[in-house]
Amino acid sequence: MNVLDSELAATSLIEAGYQPVSAKRYADVILFNTCSVRQHAEDKVYSALGRLKHWKEQKPNAIIAVMGCMAQKDKDTIFRRAPHVDIVLGPGQLRQLPEIVKSVEKKREKRLEISLERTSGKQSDVRKSFQQFNPLRNLRVGNNPYQAMVRIMFGCDKFCTYCIVPSVRGPEQSRPPREIEAEIRQLAEQGCLAVTLIGQTVNSYRYSDGKKTWRLQDLFAMIQEINGIRRIYFVTNYPTGMTDELLQSVRDIPKVTPFLHVPVQSGSNSVLQRMKRHYTAEEYRDLLDRIYATIPGAAITSDFIVGFCGETDEEFQQTVDLVKYGRFKNSFIFKYSVRPGTKAAELFQDDVPDSVKRERNNELLGVQNAISMELNQEFVGKTVNVLVEGISKIAAKSCTSSNLLQIDSPSSQPLVQLTGHTPCDRIVVFDALSEQINQLAGQILPVTITHAAPFTLFGKFSKEKTLDSMPVPS
Ligand code: 5AD
Ligand code: SF4
Repeated sequence: MNVLDSELAATSLIEAGYQPVSAKRYADVILFNTCSVRQHAEDKVYSALGRLKHWKEQKPNAIIAVMGCMAQKDKDTIFRRAPHVDIVLGPGQLRQLPEIVKSVEKKREKRLEISLERTSGKQSDVRKSFQQFNPLRNLRVGNNPYQAMVRIMFGCDKFCTYCIVPSVRGPEQSRPPREIEAEIRQLAEQGCLAVTLIGQTVNSYRYSDGKKTWRLQDLFAMIQEINGIRRIYFVTNYPTGMTDELLQSVRDIPKVTPFLHVPVQSGSNSVLQRMKRHYTAEEYRDLLDRIYATIPGAAITSDFIVGFCGETDEEFQQTVDLVKYGRFKNSFIFKYSVRPGTKAAELFQDDVPDSVKRERNNELLGVQNAISMELNQEFVGKTVNVLVEGISKIAAKSCTSSNLLQIDSPSSQPLVQLTGHTPCDRIVVFDALSEQINQLAGQILPVTITHAAPFTLFGKFSKEKTLDSMPVPS
């Protein structure tokens, strides 16, 4: 969500005549897009703001803006803790960003623009105060010119007890399908090949246009028909919304990728109950069985919180068991961070010591990484379809060319390592001739995997095959 918001903010500022710069000494405006899901993210913003105090003294006409979830949550506290900040802007006010920056430039007044609190007024007013912002997209502003995120929903109504998102991102609202379609058609015209539909719980998507009620699978069917788009990803899913109909649509609609992010958070029923997740560990295991039985080659990922209020060793071991059972492609594991204003902060003690949270985090990560490695090993010798993005940054850091097999090419020509993703969202790194970069980037190519690391597959492709960029089955 925040990556997309940053991209939209940058696009709207560029359209208003601003330009990105490479270092803060050249900047007239510094904009922080913030996250409030865990304390650590907030601490980082406050310390970055602290470091800018001196900069602002040297450059009093410069503007510092804090936008995003932390702005919505901390409101004017930000001005108190960092008096050199000029603008505080909630995620529901993104649309106003260029106009506010311009007005602060002119009038030199501080601006605080945030949405209503969820309980502070009529539901319709609260919904309206979380303005939707879906400007014209510019693929060149993002990190990847072939892949774009498209928001299909705003907000969340699930109210898991640990989570701040429903307060800072507001009530759940689904975007009209026609708007989503127009945005994706526009992206496709700009050369986008893969779209990732995003929302806090995308599988709750529901929109009635008078004639019919659209669900996520209806969006899939609509996007399937858009020329140019080759892959459809979607995140994040809430476990109880993974209906058979949705799973079958993932299997049957060709562009939909077999990659499912379905956060479970814990393997213990008592913890899940305290978290107010509306399912049991057994139901989640059934869901995993259903996914693996329905979707060939499915890759599932999950989120976990360790050290939630009152979590015992036994409850934690149930989470370890679930990770072993789940065979997740990878998992995102977080130490519980108490969020003031949530039900958990009000009802429970944050009583698991940080050292225990850390140990549990490491243990779970160890179990998961071993599984990720095993699953990646299964790809060795197989050919997968890779949407080639460009030169690999990971390769530059994590491997030397000696551990990559060379392609069938005269060794005198310089080789580069290219990277891309499989349909199941695995990263693949492979060698190519440097002169081929432009020809290969933005194509879906068959790459044969030669060896594997927990988070990366390494492979090679044969030159003859690259001339034909038609996908082969992965
Ligand atoms: N502490 C730690 N992790 C959290 N998450 C959400 N709230 C918290 C919290 N208070 C995690 C959940 C969620 C992911 C996006 O962040 O695992 O799925
Ligand atoms: Fe937070 Fe739960 Fe909503 Fe996810 S589903 S955003 S964890 S409240």
